[in-house]
Amino acid sequence: MAMMELAPGLFYFPEFHDRAEQEALVADLREVVRAAPLFTPRMPRTGKPFSARMTNCGDLGWVSDARGGYRYQPTHPETGAPWPAMPALALRAWNEAGAYPLPPEACLVNYYAADAKMGLHQDRDEKDLLAPVVSISLGASCLFRFGGVERGGRTRSIKLHSGDVLIIGGPSRLCFHGVDRILPGGSTLIEGGARLNLTMRRVSPR
Ligand code: SIN
Ligand code: MN
Repeated sequence: MAMMELAPGLFYFPEFHDRAEQEALVADLREVVRAAPLFTPRMPRTGKPFSARMTNCGDLGWVSDARGGYRYQPTHPETGAPWPAMPALALRAWNEAGAYPLPPEACLVNYYAADAKMGLHQDRDEKDLLAPVVSISLGASCLFRFGGVERGGRTRSIKLHSGDVLIIGGPSRLCFHGVDRILPGGSTLIEGGARLNLTMRRVSPR
């Protein structure tokens, strides 16, 4: 299994999932989206919509809207139903690449249409910051940007491709990161040149 440490605690596993596993994951995610439809999160206070649409699987899901802000909750914000289970292949990436002794509690699913992006931010709504965030990319490639733990510091970008896994942990657990843009023409996995990203997290304090 190839692996590169991009920064302390930021581990990149190119093509962790082969094509057959990527197809199986997309099939699992279609079931997830059937049970828990994609929603458009909104920024706290301003209510400005995100350009990525989202859903979740696992015991907890990350949601955001103008009134409640960023938070985790056990139910879908629109249907009120519990989130569906996490795909077994996603759990495998958590165990084998993330290697944290407790299972993930939340898996955020981001759906990026060809023109979607995500601004630089930290993942810090979780109470267990010893646990890494384990990210799986599927479909279109993207330009992923990351920096240090201070806003406004130097940043670098890398291309994330379908099947890649990224571990955001250790000294990089609170690094700023985001998606500059989706890159056209790279993958036939998901129709319309879209990208899916899964991020698994521990939420509860240890
Ligand atoms: C995120 O930070 O929630 C998603 C990152 C990605 O789409 O690669
Ligand atoms: Mn993030």
